[in-house]
Amino acid sequence: MKETIQDLLNRRSVKEFREEQITREELLTVLSAGMNAPTGGNQQSPVFLAVQSKEWMERLRRLNGEIAGAPEGFDVFYGAPAIILVLAEKGKGNPVEDGSLAIGNMLNAAYALGLGGRWIHRIRETFEQPLGKELLREAGYEGEYIGIGSCILGYPKDGFPAPLKKKDNYYKIIPQEEKV
Ligand SMILES: Cc1cc2nc3c(=O)[nH]c(=O)nc-3n(C[C@H](O)[C@H](O)[C@H](O)COP(=O)(O)O)c2cc1C
Repeated sequence: MKETIQDLLNRRSVKEFREEQITREELLTVLSAGMNAPTGGNQQSPVFLAVQSKEWMERLRRLNGEIAGAPEGFDVFYGAPAIILVLAEKGKGNPVEDGSLAIGNMLNAAYALGLGGRWIHRIRETFEQPLGKELLREAGYEGEYIGIGSCILGYPKDGFPAPLKKKDNYYKIIPQEEKV
């Protein structure tokens, strides 16, 4: 089986990360995979904000944890040293669909590189809050953005979990039998 298919079938999300930062090259490869996802009408609506700074990670972690109502001391980023936040300019394209596909591509690319990844939610709420908007301004974004989702990244502490068993009857094919 082609390696790409194997990666798609085996990819899992990671919840435990080593402290060590991923390389810039790895980050750029994952970002490229996100940017190369298809977008409706080729409008390229997603905006990618990659964060590796410890200070920014802490600010985002605190904000995300507050929105989640996470208990004190629970790290909603599971110790990952990097995150790619995906947003879209308000009113442009198909932000949710485009952004979600980009995150899917990045999760698969991360796995293919041996990096742990996981979608972390509550990004819409993060950038609806004054603190989130402040972060965007600091990063140099003007205008109005809607947060779609994010992908945390890092080296997995204990490798990857085994592939998940999927529910029965996940799909139907019509006609049921292949006609030869
Ligand atoms: C839309 C979406 C939102 C998610 N949000 C979170 C989240 O906020 N925190 C988290 O730990 N995992 C989150 N996940 C990861 C899922 O829990 C994970 O993908 C799921 O359990 C299946 O595991 P797998 O990715 O290893 O196949 C999210 C996944 C998706 C697709």
